[in-house]
Amino acid sequence: MNMAGKTVLITGSTDGVGRYVATQLAIAGAKVLIHGRDRARAKALSEEIKRAGASEPTFYQADLSSLTDTRKLADAVLADHGRLDVFVSNAGIGSQNGGPGRQTSADGYELRFAVNYLAGFLLAYRLLPRLKAGAPSRIVNVASLGQHPIDFDDVMLTRDYSGSRAYAQSKLAQIMFTIDLARELEGSRVTVNSLHPATYMNTTMVREGGIAPMSTVEQGGDAILHLATGDDLAGKSGLFFNAMREAKAHSQAYDDAARKRLRALSLELTGLI
Ligand SMILES: NC(=O)c1ccc[n+]([C@@H]2O[C@H](COP(=O)([O-])OP(=O)(O)OC[C@H]3O[C@@H](n4cnc5c(N)ncnc54)[C@H](OP(=O)(O)O)[C@@H]3O)[C@@H](O)[C@H]2O)c1
Repeated sequence: MNMAGKTVLITGSTDGVGRYVATQLAIAGAKVLIHGRDRARAKALSEEIKRAGASEPTFYQADLSSLTDTRKLADAVLADHGRLDVFVSNAGIGSQNGGPGRQTSADGYELRFAVNYLAGFLLAYRLLPRLKAGAPSRIVNVASLGQHPIDFDDVMLTRDYSGSRAYAQSKLAQIMFTIDLARELEGSRVTVNSLHPATYMNTTMVREGGIAPMSTVEQGGDAILHLATGDDLAGKSGLFFNAMREAKAHSQAYDDAARKRLRALSLELTGLI
């Protein structure tokens, strides 16, 4: 992997699999833009990357449960960098983080839908001009095999809330967005793919959920790096991968009407229209 001259943004890179991906990309020579909420965790990662002999990453602090903060993150990246080659939309919260009850974002949306999906949707659109200008470029949406169909009558899960349903709905939304955006970007040489990195990696999200880890961060991280940099992915777009292999997502992902509905709702909720 040679990423010299490339600029890469990885959201949620202060912890877990994003941290590993950021480190590997920095070692491969990329200019790495790391993101999270916690400055101390970002500093520790910067030190680790420098110790590995790579260039110091640039840290962006933003809480993706606020669309205002999300917009500011995109604006700061656009202001600071003339090129962006890869955007890895990885930040996320698990099904149980913060307790079993329904939570809402700063904008009043169901929290997992907001952080795991809407923030990445907004960032992708705000960053697109930069990605297009430097094409070929890539977007990688870190989703999951945990997928639940969206009930368009209750997207914010005000009835029968469960953390696992909220998580799985947000993850399917990411995959639906990936397919939709890939169609929109045909001919632009900006590709967008999504994946399930690995099952129950040993990360904060999994441990806080009380689940015994089954995979390593390296396994999931290498699957993300494959989509972000793999030569075999050049020109391929709109796909879903289970780790290293192309896979089928939940059937709602292939429902044109559902994707159209999700796009209209997302544009409205993020203020893009
Ligand atoms: N772990 C698994 O087995 C697994 C399986 C399938 C898919 N995934 C997906 O992989 C991605 C990474 O998960 P992980 O297991 O590495 O999780 P993790 O260790 O809990 O790390 C999550 C990252 O997201 C950031 N984040 C969380 N909430 C945020 C918010 N409101 N605003 C900004 N940043 C926020 C965290 O930042 P802070 O440092 O500020 O907390 C952290 O950097 C997620 O999208 C997850 O759904 C994970």
